[in-house]
Amino acid sequence: MKTQVSVYEPCRGIVPLRARLENWMVTLLEEPKLVHDLLDKHGAPLNIQSDAPFRGNIADLIGCVGEFDLPFLPMFARKANKCLTYVDAARDINIGIDTASHAEVVQCLDRGLPGDRIVCTAAVKDQDLMSLCVANGVTIILDNLDEITLLEEVVQYQDRPVSVGLRLNGFEREGQPLYSRFGLPLRKIPDIATRLSQTPQITLDGLHFHLNGYSSADRIAAIAQTLPVITALRHSIQRDFFLDIGGGIPMNYLDDPAQWDTWKSELDAALGGTREPITQHNVGLGRTVDPDGAKGSIDSYPVAQGVVQTDWMREILNATDGGKTIANRLRDAKVSLRCEPGRSVLDGCGMTLARVAFCKTDSAGVPVIGVQMNRTQSRSGFSEFALDPLMVPGPEPRGDPVEGYLAGTYCTESEWLTRRKMVFPAGVRPGDIMVFPNTAGYLMHFLESRSHQFPLAKNVFLQRDGTATLDAIDTD
Ligand SMILES: Cc1ncc(COP(=O)(O)O)c(C=O)c1O
Repeated sequence: MKTQVSVYEPCRGIVPLRARLENWMVTLLEEPKLVHDLLDKHGAPLNIQSDAPFRGNIADLIGCVGEFDLPFLPMFARKANKCLTYVDAARDINIGIDTASHAEVVQCLDRGLPGDRIVCTAAVKDQDLMSLCVANGVTIILDNLDEITLLEEVVQYQDRPVSVGLRLNGFEREGQPLYSRFGLPLRKIPDIATRLSQTPQITLDGLHFHLNGYSSADRIAAIAQTLPVITALRHSIQRDFFLDIGGGIPMNYLDDPAQWDTWKSELDAALGGTREPITQHNVGLGRTVDPDGAKGSIDSYPVAQGVVQTDWMREILNATDGGKTIANRLRDAKVSLRCEPGRSVLDGCGMTLARVAFCKTDSAGVPVIGVQMNRTQSRSGFSEFALDPLMVPGPEPRGDPVEGYLAGTYCTESEWLTRRKMVFPAGVRPGDIMVFPNTAGYLMHFLESRSHQFPLAKNVFLQRDGTATLDAIDTD
């Protein structure tokens, strides 16, 4: 990662949360004409991406698990980004893909992914989706008894073998249950396996969980609790068997992770009235401060995390349970490890760019910078985008410093691209370009909507020769 100061200068948070940038991002942003040309050609907002970091992140993950001598298949969770370039990359580097809908499965098959490298974890599966998976040898992760009943019917019509995994719930950590609305209770798995064995077309090939949050300790507990169930199943199942530990591999978005704690304490100070607000209308974004103190967590992805990516995976595999490491226990149980990373393998892959349309003041005299994109184009499931956008100035000269808030295109009072106050030391004006960094994982696509019939942002991938190619999701 290259962290030159210049690209950060035109815009920052009043209390900064400066994003880590990949070299390709800095190189591009240092060429304002190129950026303006790209937006002229493809329209704005525009998602500009590179699949090189994706390939690197996957290689790192494979290398890390390889140190433990475990059979391993990462399955890229493509719900995190809809672009087909990543599907092609996953196909070419021989990993799998985790799909969440009929369209995602069809697209993977059309791009040449073999069925046995696709897993379907869709939260709701209907007969069409089940039939598609059965017809193409896609592994289905079964979540509930109604899905099992539906699959039992589907295989009667199609009379083809289908590989399945069972999604688990019912884990505990330190005596506390780990809640999930997904999955089947761990203690019922032996009975469910017996039921499945009565349908010859259905083969139980593995167990799966995907836990909320990013805690390695939760995953360690879940693996340790699943292993005895696998060992018991292995008396009747001798073939290869997988344990798929889902996604949730954490990542860090900040150039200096210490800025996150500083920002949180400045927010508390603002909420407590001991400093000027750093958010619009002094909103707490999930935090409150009252005479009893500060409480609540910020409604954003935790943009600074201690142990991330391969270190997080290593922490899990090195953890000990019953006197042995998790890696050794998985090896003893002859289990091949799978996981379904989304966000963390898209780290460094994308930016979302849009033009400033106007600068005004609101009824309270506070500067409002109107940007031609809506907030769903840089959001995951959290309400706040807790990173400083960057700014690529247009050719027009700018003027006095501005401190204000970035508003989006939807016609509600709540339509803010971030509720954090931004500072433009040399001003901001129509035609400047706002850049939302590191948005490839969920932020650009997960919630994108086209209310008011604005078109969705197009997606281009930068090539080695400096050209940018439209992703097939926007052309097919
Ligand atoms: C079943 C399943 N697998 C994998 C993922 C990917 O998680 P992440 O992007 O946090 O790695 C998700 C995300 O919601 C999921 O629901």
